[in-house]
Amino acid sequence: MRTLPILVIAVMILAAFTLAPASGNAGNVDNGKKLYNDPTLGGSTNPKSCNTCHPGGKGIEHAGTKEYASLMGMKVNALEDVVNICIERPLGGKALADDSQEMKDIVSYIKSLGK
Ligand code: HEC
Repeated sequence: MRTLPILVIAVMILAAFTLAPASGNAGNVDNGKKLYNDPTLGGSTNPKSCNTCHPGGKGIEHAGTKEYASLMGMKVNALEDVVNICIERPLGGKALADDSQEMKDIVSYIKSLGK
């Protein structure tokens, strides 16, 4: 009988540790906004930033909640892919890794626009 509460507590502690990395790795909205306005994102050497074409996030407010995005005639499944297409084409930069902190920050910023 005594072991049940201990078991419950053990499971709760385990759950807390399992869930912690997910929240710890979340993107930073403020930093995402900075990157969004940064013309050197992805190593870009032209003067454009995301903000040049989508000022203040205008026009992409709902990108964070879409099932997919249709972009320049292409159907893309993940917001990360959309961001990388805009980095590689208009910015002339190099795609960011999906799990990089920069990508997480930008995606968090874009998702914050729709709220
Ligand atoms: C030279 C202009 C230009 C720049 C710079 C640019 N984009 Fe775009 N972006 C576009 C165009 C054009 C589209 C496609 C719009 C369409 O197909 O309806 C688009 C589409 C998008 C979408 C999808 C919107 C939707 O609702 O489906 C997102 C998200 C986006 N851009 C983010 C970014 C980010 C992040 C950056 C910076 C890395 C960036 N863009 C830089 C021109 C630009």
